[in-house]
Order: sequence, then structure tokens, then C-alpha cells
Amino acid sequence: PRILVLASGSGTNLQALIDATRERDFPGEIIAVGSNKPNAFALERAAQANIDTFVVDHTKYDSREAFDGALMAEIRQHNPDLIVLAGFMRILTTDFVRALRGQMLNIHPSLLPSYTGLNTHQRVLEAGDSSHGVSVHFVTEELDGGPVIAQAEVNVLAGDTAESLAERVQVKEHLLYPIVVRWFCEGRVQLGTDYVLFDGELL
Ligand code: GRF
Repeated sequence: PRILVLASGSGTNLQALIDATRERDFPGEIIAVGSNKPNAFALERAAQANIDTFVVDHTKYDSREAFDGALMAEIRQHNPDLIVLAGFMRILTTDFVRALRGQMLNIHPSLLPSYTGLNTHQRVLEAGDSSHGVSVHFVTEELDGGPVIAQAEVNVLAGDTAESLAERVQVKEHLLYPIVVRWFCEGRVQLGTDYVLFDGELL
């Protein structure tokens, strides 16, 4: 399968995916990396790995529809089987998400359905939760609301700050995302109506 990654930031998850897909037996290939930010470090990582890159700068479009239209045109040119959102910090329109239904994954730094949206680490600390983690899910119309494929948990420790917690969650992100992308590429995970099928069974 042909994998296209979208990222807005430093791209540590992208790096984990690049490293994993470079292993000899990996069943998929990253064919392009796109960003809404011309200076995202993720683009440097892709270039270093000789992967095609493209930028659709959201500041150059006056509506979400126009931006998503341009992004979709770029995506279509690369003809991917899977779109992987790896720190892609734009909310996508309903039409865009529907067009790629069952073909788009996201990683979110919380144990969904808890803590959708931003600043998850800080909010977990403020709530006094004892556990936290990361989720990989199919992208659907609802923000951070699509069916969860897999999660990894971390314990919240006394003295944790949002930064220390984020760091431990990221270690899990870098382990979990390549595993789930592999499953997708092997045809093991699929999106049902509002659930995940794993090896054809309801998850
Ligand atoms: C990660 O924490 C991810 O969970 C969130 O955005 C961050 C991206 O980090 N959606 P990076 O760009 O992969 O380093």
C-alpha cells in the first residue's frame, strides 16, 4: 500500500513511521509527505529520507473548503491507499473526511473518548487522573471522535508536568503508530459503520 503522511510540526511520529517502513518486511511505503506549514521540520525529515513532499499553505486560502480542495487535489495526484495524520493541526471539512472514509488514521495524545481537542496533558493533570495515554483512530466527521483502533497507556506520576507527561506519551506514540499502520497495510483493520473490524471481527 501507498502511504501519504500529513504533518504540521516537528514530525517525530513521521520519523518513527519512516524508520518502520524502511524495515525490509514492512508491507507499505511512504510515497509522500504533505504539510500546511512551509517550514515544518517534518518536511526536512521527509527530504532527508528521499520522500516526495508538498505544501498547501492554509494562510493562502480564505476558506476551509478552498484549503481542503487544494489539499485533496495534491493527495489525489499521489494516489495513496492510506492517509496518516501525524500532528496535522488543521480541522478538516466534512466533505474531505467523507471522501477518504476508512482510509485515514489519526494519532491523538489521550485515552479517547476522554480529552478530545488540545492541551490534553495539562487537562489530565488538572483532573488528577492516574492514567493517560495515546489513541490511534480512524478519522470520521467528528473531531477526534472516530472509532479507536489501539491505545497505549502511561501512568501519571507524582511531580509530572505537562512536558514530562507529553514526553512519556510520545515514546508510546512512536511505538504504537507504526504497529497500527502495519496492521492497516496488512489489511487487518477496517472501518465498519461506526466500529473497527480487526481481522474481520468486531473490535
Ligand atoms: C503528537 O503528540 C500527536 O499525538 C499530536 O501531535 C503531536 C505531533 O508530534 N496529534 P510530532 O510532530 O509527531 O512530533
